[in-house]
Amino acid sequence: MHLITLSPWSKTDILETVEDSLNMKRHPEKYRHAVGGKNLCLLFQKTSTRTRCAGEIGITQLGGHAHYLDWRTTNFALADLGDEMRVLSAYVDIILARFLKHDELVAAATAATVPIINGCCDKYHPTQALGDLMTIQEHFGKLEGIKLCFIGVHNNVCNSLIAAGMKVGIEVTVVAPEVNPAAVDKELWDAAAQKGCYKTLDTDTADVGDALQEIIAESDVVYTDTWVDMEFFTDPAFAEERERRLKKMIPYQLNSELLKRHDCKIMHCLPAHHGYEIAGELVNDERSIIFDQSENRLHSMKAILLKLLAQV
Ligand code: CP
Ligand code: NVA
Repeated sequence: MHLITLSPWSKTDILETVEDSLNMKRHPEKYRHAVGGKNLCLLFQKTSTRTRCAGEIGITQLGGHAHYLDWRTTNFALADLGDEMRVLSAYVDIILARFLKHDELVAAATAATVPIINGCCDKYHPTQALGDLMTIQEHFGKLEGIKLCFIGVHNNVCNSLIAAGMKVGIEVTVVAPEVNPAAVDKELWDAAAQKGCYKTLDTDTADVGDALQEIIAESDVVYTDTWVDMEFFTDPAFAEERERRLKKMIPYQLNSELLKRHDCKIMHCLPAHHGYEIAGELVNDERSIIFDQSENRLHSMKAILLKLLAQV
């Protein structure tokens, strides 16, 4: 069993993982030897703070070992992907992979003979969504019926929230005047919409401010993420597109003025870009559950590792 996207995971798989995450947070001592010396390899093409630390520290806290590979310092960069994945599979029990391109990750998983966890590609970020479900369960005591509004650029994080939400009954409304081309997944969006768990708010025909006020008033959680994915942030070839997006997206920034009449929780997967998708003051606002969310990446990564390693 892999975790490339949440679509093949059942509701039970997801709910069990959330429950295990919460138990691991409450009683970490019970899980100290849970994976008995198993080895995790992290294979990363992109930068990371949370996902990398959650994987490395998580497996250590479960009694296993972590090996971090920066793609650029390996022969993955010059060799056949299938050959290298087969080799790595013979050395370790599970692989956490952060790849640029979803298709390349799928090819890697096909060649691997051990479980692959998607540590964020251009299309999905499933470990983030599982951690987010844990945080929502922790704060609201339930998942089903929660109304979450994602405001920003429709991206990998947004897709995985939709995929997770439709399994557990969270209603996700997306307010996104831009969609990352790599994140387009009509099959997922149609399936979630049919279950009544996904809709978009058309801001072309309405006043943006009024439309945002209306949807935030109905939401338990307001969630945002970067308008530009990490690999493009300093890419000179993306500079013009970055400037275009920043200008277009400013009316959608989460800030104190926008949220002043609302008591919703505020979520962001981090890293945050203060002054862009979120004003800095909101990160530390009393409604913000952002730092619980980031801490929970560790607990939920441990639950994901335990689940997948139990099947090896
Ligand atoms: N939220 C998240 O995945 O953070 P990192 O990119 O730092 O891993
Ligand atoms: N969507 C952003 C943040 C993921 C943690 C990205 O891919 O860079």
